[in-house]
Amino acid sequence: MAIPDSFLEELNARTDIVDLVSGYVSLTKKGNRYWGLCPFHSEKTPSFSVAPDRQMCYCFGCHKGGGPVNFIMELEGVGFVDAVSILAQRAGMPMPETKSEESSRKRRERLYELNKAAARYFYQNLMSPAGRKGMDYFRERGLSRKTIRNFGLGYSLGSWDALIKAMAELGYSKQELLDVGLVVKSEKGSIYDRFRGRVMFPIIDLRGNVIGFGGRVLDDSTPKYLNSPDTIIYNKSKNLFALNLAKKSKQERLILTEGYMDTIALHQAGFDCAIASLGTSLTSDHARMIAQRTQEVVLSYDSDKAGINAAQRAIQLLNKTGVRVKVLKVTGAKDPDEFIKKYGAAAFQKLIDGSENQMEFRILQVKNQYDLTQDDQRVACIQELAALIAHLPGSAEREVYGNRAAKDLEISPETMQREIQRSQRRQIAYEKKQQARKVLQPVQMNQPESRALRYDNMRSGKAEEGVIALLLNDPGLMVGAAGLAPEDFTVPLFGRVYQIIRERWAEDRPVSLNVLGPELTGEEMNHIASILQSPISQSNRDRAMEDYINIIHTQQLKGGDRSGLDDEALMAYRDRKGMEEQK
Ligand code: CTP
Ligand code: MN
Repeated sequence: MAIPDSFLEELNARTDIVDLVSGYVSLTKKGNRYWGLCPFHSEKTPSFSVAPDRQMCYCFGCHKGGGPVNFIMELEGVGFVDAVSILAQRAGMPMPETKSEESSRKRRERLYELNKAAARYFYQNLMSPAGRKGMDYFRERGLSRKTIRNFGLGYSLGSWDALIKAMAELGYSKQELLDVGLVVKSEKGSIYDRFRGRVMFPIIDLRGNVIGFGGRVLDDSTPKYLNSPDTIIYNKSKNLFALNLAKKSKQERLILTEGYMDTIALHQAGFDCAIASLGTSLTSDHARMIAQRTQEVVLSYDSDKAGINAAQRAIQLLNKTGVRVKVLKVTGAKDPDEFIKKYGAAAFQKLIDGSENQMEFRILQVKNQYDLTQDDQRVACIQELAALIAHLPGSAEREVYGNRAAKDLEISPETMQREIQRSQRRQIAYEKKQQARKVLQPVQMNQPESRALRYDNMRSGKAEEGVIALLLNDPGLMVGAAGLAPEDFTVPLFGRVYQIIRERWAEDRPVSLNVLGPELTGEEMNHIASILQSPISQSNRDRAMEDYINIIHTQQLKGGDRSGLDDEALMAYRDRKGMEEQK
């Protein structure tokens, strides 16, 4: 849904950022800023700052920041529109919506209500004598009352219409029950309860809505699990079990398991960052959702063949997002749930800590990329594996995994070891060269972490930062930028932001961090927020603009100058300018 600018601007005006952040972080005033402990990473001394004059916040530790909307997106783990709606509610502003949006929202809300009522009903069953079997089952699996309540677990009675009747009493229609998939239509057209005699796992989205259910049998009958079908409020490939809980976790990773019970057992054992996909294999949407929330994901799948295959697929999808993937090898138990029961939470923590070097997985991963029946592909595969193994720090490890790879690829261990040594020599030579370059180029250190935000030309990049910072402070400076085109920017993010600002300025629409929100990823927004942190002098901004534009154009003519000294020179230049202006 496109939210009108005017709405965003009014929302911005009605939101006091200090007041907003104070709701989550205790702030102390120093000068014209407020400081507190960052809610996005754990720390002991405050590096999270709020600047009311700029209506923004920024953490000097983890470099997250932005306007009120970004703050809420990050903190609540919600998208742009949801964050706006949270702020709107806070400011007492009804969200703008069209008629058809309104009716579809009402319909969805009604279905959420129905699911919530059903979850409550299943929970009450479980707590009542009629749900004895379910309760016994959960007890036997070691779940505490608190865990049961936390996850809102329940029980569906062994009846064809118990739920239908209970929901009819609350006023829900046959069609509504069909719409959420709680009932099934028979060939004759009558309906019956989908879940019967099963323990129930409600699936809850990030806003706390019950969107579907999983139900497990109590014995060995099949199917073991029955799940709600996809409906207008439930899309399995876009939701993850327990993410609503894990998003509040203080732990700096997500643990991805295969199933409901594993996730629940992990939460009960204190790993409140565990999640699972919902009876489907991981999708690219899931991978993206995970990467948006964490830097590191630990795969904790079952140790059987199916689990290994699923992990393989998950690794490939997750690797594409740039999130760090660790694979946890559960030995001596079939899954994490059983492992924790047998060996305890401390042992599981050890597994996580030691899960970095999962060579088997990585070897398999490399092998899967080649067609080993083709000679040339086999050679390429051997070389890639040699490079992978050459990175291992211990010679024993290199020998063990080298021999394993040799066996897999049907070559002699000696040949494999020779390849590994060759690769090592090449790597050492490469590192030496890199080292030498680093000494020459301190500027490398100043690079933003993400590759997407790298500055190929540091001088131009810094000047581009300056342009963007100035324009976000005062879009009127666009008057002086007539000769600057979006294509002139060497950092694509700045080119894009520049274009947005320019279009808005031309149409006389407002410019602020808030309106950039929907156009940028979280990381991009953090970067923009970070460049707004350096003080901008009040005087002579037109001149500063002109200087920056000159630098960008000069660099363009030069075809890029990558020397680090240039960057330092520019910084010195900026400092000097700042000082002159203060005089
Ligand atoms: N699953 C499913 N349908 C099945 C079997 C499994 O949807 N017939 C999904 C469920 O989401 C389940 C996950 O796949 O949680 C993993 O399956 P499994 O390892 O068999 O289940 P667990 O969650 O480990 O359950 P339990 O320990 O109770 O056997
Ligand atoms: Mn299991």
